[in-house]
Amino acid sequence: PRVAVVFGGRSSEHAVSCVSAGCVLRAIDRHAWDVVPVGITREGRWALAADDPERLQISGGQLPEVPDTGAAVVLAPDPTSGGLVVQEQGDVPAVLRSVDVVLPLLHGPFGEDGTLQGLLELADVRYVGSGVFASAAAMDKGHMKALLAAAGLATGAYVVISPRAWEHDPAAERAKVRALGLPVFVKPCRAGSSVGITKVTSWDALDAAVEEARRHDPRVIVEAGIVGRELECGVLEGEDGGPAEASVVAEVRVDSEHDFYDFVAKYVDGGATLDVPADLPADVSDEVRRLAVQAFEALGCEGLARVDFFLADDGRVLVNEVNTMPGFTPASAFPQVWAATGLDYPALVARLLRTAAA
Ligand code: DAL
Ligand code: MG
Repeated sequence: PRVAVVFGGRSSEHAVSCVSAGCVLRAIDRHAWDVVPVGITREGRWALAADDPERLQISGGQLPEVPDTGAAVVLAPDPTSGGLVVQEQGDVPAVLRSVDVVLPLLHGPFGEDGTLQGLLELADVRYVGSGVFASAAAMDKGHMKALLAAAGLATGAYVVISPRAWEHDPAAERAKVRALGLPVFVKPCRAGSSVGITKVTSWDALDAAVEEARRHDPRVIVEAGIVGRELECGVLEGEDGGPAEASVVAEVRVDSEHDFYDFVAKYVDGGATLDVPADLPADVSDEVRRLAVQAFEALGCEGLARVDFFLADDGRVLVNEVNTMPGFTPASAFPQVWAATGLDYPALVARLLRTAAA
């Protein structure tokens, strides 16, 4: 069978997606799968990409990017057999390569948010991961938390600032936010990898933080800071219709020179340590794993997700978010928690493709 690995994309996590793709291209079993790498440039142009993991890594602090090679491709419904074909534009005669599975290895809007998933549904092709609704729901931190709360899962306190509210009555929005108490984290509703996030420790800094978040998304979420530990858990859809499975739990510990788990600490300077598994009492890690599966089910996720938690100092386990296409970079938690659970990186990728193709 043939898999199209789609990566890059228009979101602020373009480079993270490229790094994820480099690692995945290296890990796919080439005896089992014929691979078509499809890059999406920052501008949104689709191009056949070099099948070259070396070019897709962070080197010397330099972030990778999908080059606009001009080898444009279209993903199109297959006129003869249904399904999807990848067609290089300008090929005469057209070379149509039909694709059995798409791996949308894209993070953030226009990839992880249901938009690409909708295109794939229309083309009737199988793909890895969540469908349209779960992808869209999990992409928006405000809607996601509302759905988690509706399913009875505890989350931290938060306020969503809609563009209209901020533009028409910012004073009212500021008042709602102040009720959360300091510190707060101001985030774009639809972004990832900590892009556009500010930790606010003084109310003087709130407006600038909201404006920074609004550069990435007009919808902004302000979350109450939680004193406690940061935990992450992987979830995989069950095989053969079985229940979803949770990985061991990891803890993120951020070095003191970073204020929080920001982009640079995550990917660039190794300023965060991941303990896999986290040093936790068995009952707490069991609780986290149980809640991770519940969160996966609450949003109707498929394939995979990484669920992030806070273990508050008062003992509460709070779900912070669900990521439907978590990072697959060397720094990313998802492949590491699964390796510690007994699925190494190639086995994890093989399982995801197998689940999608089934
Ligand atoms: N948004 C990044 C890729 C993650 O969740 O790992
Ligand atoms: Mg996230």
